[in-house]
Amino acid sequence: MCGIIGRVGDGSAIEPLLTGLENLEYRGYDSAGIAVQNGSGIDIEKRSGKVEELKESIGDPPRGEVGIGHTRWSTHGPPTDANAHPHTDESTDVAVVHNGIIENYVELKERLAANGYEFTSDTDTEVIPHLIQYYLDAGFDSERAFRHAISELEGSYAVTAMVSGEHVLYAARQGSPLVVGMEDGEYFLASDVPAFLEYTDSVVYLEDGDVVLVDEDGVEFTDLEGNPVTRTPETVEWDPEQAGKGEYDHFMLKEIHEQPTSLAQALEGRIDTRNGRIALSDFEPGTFDDVESVQFIACGTSYHAALYGSLGLNQAGVQSTALLANEYSVAAPPVDDDTLVIAVTQSGETADTLNALRQATAEGARTLTVTNVVGSTAAREADDALFIRAGPEIGVAATKTFSSQAVMLTLLCQRIAADRQGEPPADLESLLPAVESMPSALDEVLESSDAAAIARQYDDSQSYFFIGRGLGFPVALEGALKFKEITYEHAEGFASGELKHGPLALVTPETPVFAVFTGQEDEKTLKNAEEAQTRGAPVIAVCPDDHAAVAVADEHLSIPATESELAGLLANVQLQLVSYHAADLLDRPIDKPRNLAKSVTVE
Ligand code: G6P
Repeated sequence: MCGIIGRVGDGSAIEPLLTGLENLEYRGYDSAGIAVQNGSGIDIEKRSGKVEELKESIGDPPRGEVGIGHTRWSTHGPPTDANAHPHTDESTDVAVVHNGIIENYVELKERLAANGYEFTSDTDTEVIPHLIQYYLDAGFDSERAFRHAISELEGSYAVTAMVSGEHVLYAARQGSPLVVGMEDGEYFLASDVPAFLEYTDSVVYLEDGDVVLVDEDGVEFTDLEGNPVTRTPETVEWDPEQAGKGEYDHFMLKEIHEQPTSLAQALEGRIDTRNGRIALSDFEPGTFDDVESVQFIACGTSYHAALYGSLGLNQAGVQSTALLANEYSVAAPPVDDDTLVIAVTQSGETADTLNALRQATAEGARTLTVTNVVGSTAAREADDALFIRAGPEIGVAATKTFSSQAVMLTLLCQRIAADRQGEPPADLESLLPAVESMPSALDEVLESSDAAAIARQYDDSQSYFFIGRGLGFPVALEGALKFKEITYEHAEGFASGELKHGPLALVTPETPVFAVFTGQEDEKTLKNAEEAQTRGAPVIAVCPDDHAAVAVADEHLSIPATESELAGLLANVQLQLVSYHAADLLDRPIDKPRNLAKSVTVE
């Protein structure tokens, strides 16, 4: 997820470009850059770091009325100055910004390199300006060169390009968002409306396959072949202040609703349902042959994802354990070079997790990081990294990153089990299509959730309990953590079988019990829920509509039926929504809960 902006109009393009980048920084903030037409060529300013740092580093700002800009969330290549956008051809005749993933960039790069085009970055994006230049060199005019280049791209993209000396922006959309902003004599292209909302509220949302040409006289909407298409402007009724959150009151709610998209992005190219394979291209088959046991280390929500991965790996037949990273220095089991230590960390910067990772490395373990941040310390220090591609998460309470972590860990664990055992686990065949349909199952949960009503119904309760068994247990822990983080109410998560060993003493009619059903010994979890219900506690079952628990429970939060490896992750979204609505009723500062920070870089 990156942010792109383009501007054509009267007067300097610098201010609208930098304002646009600041407004888009929620989409990525590891490097930023702009390119501006200066009358005789293209001036480029770009660097790693935040937009603020880019602004400070621009001494004499480039002058010009036409320009493009980009704020990056790395997917290919670390966040260096060279990898920052805009990217250009060698002579800076063509400048390009891009959001998305070009799947065939390796073959395009090889072809262009064989034709003498020289690359200076690790990005997939850099093939685009070279490809446009290739067609310009072949004698095509700029518009045709752009169309030819775009027609060769596979994957997802929102691209905006310009050619030296022209007062025109060329743009195309396929699978990544791109919107046009229109004001008399001033036109914008951006990943999202907030980028230009200070300048215009008249917008056209481009559709997949659209190619547009923008100059000071207006916007030409076409398909890839150049046939005109009709796109009607609409007026956006957003307050620019709110716009970063789109239609949502809080970033947390926005991020909860982003989960179908962020998960689809995580999965892109990583499962091959047709051949029944997990296609984690960073890990060749056999990579994990020698792994005898796995230790997961993590904190907070990432620990719950780690526990989810660890239980899944045990169930797939590989010995594993999940440890709180801050306990690792006093409680780590022995490691050797057959031990794989997996650090799970959204930010890749949590001090406790980094310390545990360093200890494991020093003791000779093999290490791997599962993280959201390319270029983070954990990603750099571990032997290997698996990126969850969830995009930036602004709300302090982690939501979409948990879902992507847990699904990616599920896939990784299946790969580890397959390598260890020399054949794919027996249920992989049914699991892969279920993983593939997770984004639409998440959509279904989000569209029909009764969580707001449930939160209202129990808003004056004393404590909130969450129970689950097997893969439902980490989900119960995560449900309770989310609830306490943002509502400041007392909440606890338990293994459902553990309720009777102590916590049952706390159960009263004032302690609703949320019971998560995943298909793993559900009859036992139902019995445990009934034990609480008998003592007066209302039970809210989180399960499919046709589940036996529906008839027993006081209330029901519905999830689509799926494989037991994934059901808990659908239930988790219902619990995220319950927490959100409960906190909203209490008027809590949901995105920035008291005393908490998104990334804790102290021990
Ligand atoms: C902080 C955050 C939590 C997060 C934890 C681990 O405590 O408030 O939401 O789960 O750090 O963060 P990490 O970046 O390592 O996943």
